[in-house]
Amino acid sequence: MFRNLTLGVVVFLAATALYLNFFSSSEAPKGEVPIGGEFRLISHTGESVDNHTYQGKPRLVYFGFTHCPDVCPMGLAAMQAALEELRGDAPIGMFITVDPARDTQEQLALYMQNFPNIIGLTGTEQQVKDAAKAYRIYYKKVENEESPEDYTMDHTSLIYLMDGEGKYLAHFPHTASPQELVARIKQAL
Ligand code: NI
Repeated sequence: MFRNLTLGVVVFLAATALYLNFFSSSEAPKGEVPIGGEFRLISHTGESVDNHTYQGKPRLVYFGFTHCPDVCPMGLAAMQAALEELRGDAPIGMFITVDPARDTQEQLALYMQNFPNIIGLTGTEQQVKDAAKAYRIYYKKVENEESPEDYTMDHTSLIYLMDGEGKYLAHFPHTASPQELVARIKQAL
């Protein structure tokens, strides 16, 4: 069971990587990759946010969850540093939870204090599912039998750069350095 699940995740990630590499090749026309789309969520400050809220402004979008031990903090720290460095030219930073059961607006408000240039977003299970589907994000709850409340989440950990219309421009791994992010964002925008 565990082996099959792991294999499934590996196959899925490999397929995602192939898919993204295919579409992010230099041949891909700008803004025509089918990543991104309609969503409606609530921000950590209680505002309703959808795909049109930041019309005209590029966005840096990352999906994860606040209980993530290292992957999400690494990605978000790199994003935060890059956004600070880019200042006035920075895209809107967005962190969309894949764990709305624990990541309430209140929980996100606390967590985003660590990443003040990034907007935390949550919603109902269905709203999160819709957002993840639009961005081709895989996520799955991983049960913890010994301590059910301490479950974890598998999730795609790519940082997406979207243009002012919410269309895909580029993606980066969560391991990208702030300097790499800054350089590639400047290049893409
Ligand atoms: Ni994570």
